[in-house]
Amino acid sequence: MLAVVPPPVTVRVPSKINLHLSVGDLRSDGYHDLTTVFHALSLTDEVTVAAAEEPGVEVYGEGEDAVPTGANNLAWRAVQALAAHVGKDDPKVRVVLRKGIPVAGGMAGGSADAAATLVALTGLWKLDIGRDELAEIAAKIGSDVPFALYGGTALGTGRGEQLVPVLSRHTFHWVLAFDQRGLSTPRVFTELDRLREAGNPPRVGSHAPVVEALASGDPRQLALLLGNDLQAAAVSLRPGLRRTLRAGVNAGALAGTVSGSGPTCAFLCVDAESALEVAAELAGAGVCRTVRVAHGPVPGARFVGGEDLN
Ligand code: C5P
Repeated sequence: MLAVVPPPVTVRVPSKINLHLSVGDLRSDGYHDLTTVFHALSLTDEVTVAAAEEPGVEVYGEGEDAVPTGANNLAWRAVQALAAHVGKDDPKVRVVLRKGIPVAGGMAGGSADAAATLVALTGLWKLDIGRDELAEIAAKIGSDVPFALYGGTALGTGRGEQLVPVLSRHTFHWVLAFDQRGLSTPRVFTELDRLREAGNPPRVGSHAPVVEALASGDPRQLALLLGNDLQAAAVSLRPGLRRTLRAGVNAGALAGTVSGSGPTCAFLCVDAESALEVAAELAGAGVCRTVRVAHGPVPGARFVGGEDLN
């Protein structure tokens, strides 16, 4: 009898920026307690999973050469985590990543791929698993993976994996500046610990005003409140980011911030038209590798051309 091979399943997944990122002190498990406001952007990756005799990961697009395709690829870890959860040993799956999100860019691209893989596999393997159950598996893969499942705008606490949705009334328009090379997230956290031991770098305040600005929907109000404790550490490791941040504001953005652990810089603009103008001017300023426009918030990992998860 011929085995029935299920058709491949494709999922689109957003990147994220942190509108607010407050980092607590180093915990005994090597992580830091965070309070962060995640915001999902229309800059996306697409992940296709297919039954295959030769399991593995293929990567195309933005930064394809910099992505490991072995056992520590986050998408492959997602395959293994979900397979273990449902008692499948030796999952015969091929994962194809089409990248738009910069690699090691502070926009949770690897986490997005893991989240998309979890969702795609529920389709391929016909699993009756909802988003909340997937989020528990996601949190074990990486701190940013649960947010990529839900998208939107959310307050994250703990390592960043405990999420509560935040009301956001407006579509915000962003320009993203990709740097020449990525930055390692653990390295940036370690640099922040070092800066804090050596002195007393200022810390961002409460997230509450950011949440209020999101509810009001006024980009000018939000622009005044963007803040990231990791920015000083990213700039310390990559001093050129100071110039990039200045250039975005000089080009007409309302404000700029390093996204997560960087080095991508995100610039908030007053509207879509302004974002296009800022992007064009920033692209000509010679301060970054590539410029993109994006808007947010957008939904989390979603089947392309199919139904939705519970
Ligand atoms: O959870 P994830 O694997 O994405 O984290 C990557 C690294 O970033 C961790 O190993 C840790 O060094 C750092 N990190 C942290 N505190 C967090 C999240 C990440 O120190 N809340």
